[in-house]
Amino acid sequence: MKENGALNVKFYNGQNIPLELHKVRIVQKLHLKPVEERLEAIEKGGYNTFLLNTNDIFLDMLTDSGTNAMSDNQLSSMLHADDAYAGSQSFYRMEKALREVFDKHYILPVHQGRAAENIISQVFIKEGDIIPMNYHFTTTKAHMELNGGKVFEIYADEALRIKSNHQFKGNIDIGKLESLINEYGAGRIPFIRFEASTNLIGGQPFSMENMKQVKAIADAHGIMIVLDASLIGENAWFIKQREEEYKQSSIKDILNEMCMLSDIVYFSSRKVSSTRGGGICTGSEELYLKMRDLVPLFEGFLTYGGMSVREIEAMAVGFYETTDETIISQSPSFVAYAVNEMDRLGIPVITPPGALGCHIDAMGFLPHVPQEEYPAGALAAALFIVSGVRGMERGTISSERDEDGNDILADMELLRLAFPRRVFTLSQTMFMIDRAKWLFDNRDLVGGLRFREEPPVLRFFMGQLEPVSDWPLKLAAKFREDFGESL
Ligand code: F0G
Repeated sequence: MKENGALNVKFYNGQNIPLELHKVRIVQKLHLKPVEERLEAIEKGGYNTFLLNTNDIFLDMLTDSGTNAMSDNQLSSMLHADDAYAGSQSFYRMEKALREVFDKHYILPVHQGRAAENIISQVFIKEGDIIPMNYHFTTTKAHMELNGGKVFEIYADEALRIKSNHQFKGNIDIGKLESLINEYGAGRIPFIRFEASTNLIGGQPFSMENMKQVKAIADAHGIMIVLDASLIGENAWFIKQREEEYKQSSIKDILNEMCMLSDIVYFSSRKVSSTRGGGICTGSEELYLKMRDLVPLFEGFLTYGGMSVREIEAMAVGFYETTDETIISQSPSFVAYAVNEMDRLGIPVITPPGALGCHIDAMGFLPHVPQEEYPAGALAAALFIVSGVRGMERGTISSERDEDGNDILADMELLRLAFPRRVFTLSQTMFMIDRAKWLFDNRDLVGGLRFREEPPVLRFFMGQLEPVSDWPLKLAAKFREDFGESL
């Protein structure tokens, strides 16, 4: 039977609407609080959406990390978990799943993605090394720098263009890669990192063709390829949709090939398998042995790696489900709907639609807010005030300061609105778009933010900010004026 991806179902009325190919059997009640209470909540949370309490949130679009809906098969698998400190059958079932889906023999379990980054960085990166990659992720870069490495992002110029038709903005620029190798020498490059569905530039995939080209260069210089597979299912799905040669391939074959081109594959299971946890896979015994001893030291014994065996069972099922187009296309099809709608309404969003979420360009949305006043953070706070929708700042607040204490202005100021798999309905999506449009029409009312309390590392998590004027009050007042008693 041919499985319909959610995008492949045509409506007779011609509309392009994503169809939920699942039914909802467990639900959680949500609250939509009045604008005055939302204002109070964001004020209390230091204008940082990470510091909000979910009781005050209507649609939590902060992330898909650990928030995807699990399947009935995943939930039921948890019942036959095998509790054991060492040698648990649950681990061997997960190992078997990963050997099939990623085609890598050696598996190291870790408690989440950044733990894999810690181990890989500690083992392979030394002072003065450089690590080329399509784009960094926050925790990845922090671990690499902690171990003395320097990150080089070698994307093609098109990757940072907000409005674009480029189908693979996550590609590595081959010319830039060759220049880096010439300049620094292969000896200072422990590995090249590919991130599937490149998170911070808008969930943008790379092509298999690009990966093959990079692999050929890496092989010629004896450099490893490390793949961050946290969003690998979606990247594989985009390859199937957008790369002619793979139109007839199965997702499993595409996943196998991506992993075959990589020496080490690591992942956050909070994303890829809709559970918690993470792991590192390799086909090389030598690489496995280099990393192995750090797992009991930082994570837990080799057959649980800091995870509960229940999660491990659900991970195993989740990996098999990553080969199912219906499941992996669910989030991208909702992302595409939201992006296309917002684009139609004139709201500046990253195109083409990618994985994980829709990404509003805050500098295009709030051109009057200088980048030094964190437009993406301000937009995240403003959208929460007018809708109860929680998004995530992905801009300068998510960067660190330089050695002299100056802000490093981010390449892009984005508000990410994540679509965890199978969590939100179409009417909830339409509500979010509707309120974003109201905010866009009233964007002049939104002002900037400044830090009130700033932690030195990964400040975006715990940092507290304040508005540079009383703009939040004025915004809430205008909302009341327009919506009356409506929430
Ligand atoms: N790599 C990528 C590409 C990620 O998106 C994340 C997490 C990690 C590594 C780290 O994994 O959270 O399990 O430790 N991304 C989340 C997000 C936090 O919201 O995008 P983790």
